[in-house]
Amino acid sequence: MKPVHVDLGPRSYDVLIGRGLLDQVGKQLKDKVKGPVVIIADQSIITLYATKVENSIREAGFHVFTLSVPSGERSKSSEEFSRLLSELAKRKVPRSGTIIAIGGGVIGDLAGFVAASYLRGITFIQVPTTLLAMVDSSVGGKTGINLPEGKNLVGAFYQPKLVVADLDTLKTLPSREFSAGMAEVIKYGAIKDEDEVLFDRVAKGVKPDNYDLDKIIENCVTIKADIVKNDEFETRGQRALLNFGHTLGHAIENASDYEYLHGEAIALGMLAATWLSTQAGLLPNEALTAMRNALAANDLPLYLRHSVNAGRILSALEKDKKIGPDGRVQWVLLEKIGKAKTGCTEVIEPDYAIDFLYKEAFKPKS
Ligand SMILES: NC(=O)c1ccc[n+]([C@@H]2O[C@H](COP(=O)([O-])OP(=O)(O)OC[C@H]3O[C@@H](n4cnc5c(N)ncnc54)[C@H](O)[C@@H]3O)[C@@H](O)[C@H]2O)c1
Ligand SMILES: [Zn+2]
Repeated sequence: MKPVHVDLGPRSYDVLIGRGLLDQVGKQLKDKVKGPVVIIADQSIITLYATKVENSIREAGFHVFTLSVPSGERSKSSEEFSRLLSELAKRKVPRSGTIIAIGGGVIGDLAGFVAASYLRGITFIQVPTTLLAMVDSSVGGKTGINLPEGKNLVGAFYQPKLVVADLDTLKTLPSREFSAGMAEVIKYGAIKDEDEVLFDRVAKGVKPDNYDLDKIIENCVTIKADIVKNDEFETRGQRALLNFGHTLGHAIENASDYEYLHGEAIALGMLAATWLSTQAGLLPNEALTAMRNALAANDLPLYLRHSVNAGRILSALEKDKKIGPDGRVQWVLLEKIGKAKTGCTEVIEPDYAIDFLYKEAFKPKS
């Protein structure tokens, strides 16, 4: 399969998508980077995948070693960040060194920020092993960590030199995590895919062994690459398209104390934003049904658990970065499936959208 090229002038790079790619990482590095190579990997997948990559890099003639990071969002912390920097310094990794992140978005964001910071920036490569990381976090150059005060509050725009997405790694991904990644896939189909090719492809549900999973991921990466190309540093408003479903989604994720996975919360956020689009007269009701069906087919939630407090969602919304200068919520709404519109402030108060998500009508029949 042809790589997807992310066209960012001097910071351009390729995203390789396919199966059986882990064994080829060493070969891929040969004319691109210098050693030594430091793998920063999610602890729970070291034996599964990182060792394979390490061997292929060693066979290609590089000096290579692996640093393990505990799984989970808590590792995106200033403590883990500085521990990794110290490891690099202790081992005297020079400026010519390369960091490879192997894992999901947590590892990619953390290792990317380490690569951006160590010696003011060394070469960075992403090997995403979750669906979310393949279609979203490994592409576009956003790296960073969390603070106790909030998520992703510290970071840098720092593009990788190469992304290698090996679909074989998805076979071991827990199905709940796979579904959460599908929420982002559905998002791409909703925001920037006017022929609805992607949305139709995924509307009936996708599993890790789908024969056209590579095409689906390629589709998503191409859409993201296009958006990032036009707005690399999020200064032109284009990148805000990617926030479809994230306005309310982030607030739900936060108010649920992260009981909802990111993708699950985003699924609810997309449902609410699609409903708001119908309420604003932008979108026909059939589109809401289509969105609902696509989320259901991919085992994503369709209603909000009452245990998640509406007041907390509203205060999380207020703290979030998506409130405009006039204090109004900036929604990303749909004009049709495949075309989103940013900066919408004309619609209803957010509590109506939250009420909508609590509605019994969307509870699965037991
Ligand atoms: N930089 C960006 O543009 C961007 C975009 C979206 C999300 N993010 C960030 O990404 C993070 C979420 O990423 P995620 O959903 O990949 O979560 P994650 O990195 O926590 O991975 C999810 C879980 O899957 C496990 N895992 C990873 N790969 C596996 C595999 N192949 N087999 C079995 N288990 C595997 C991990 O150990 C973890 O428990 C968040 O911190 C979010 O802020 C960043
Ligand atoms: Zn997201």
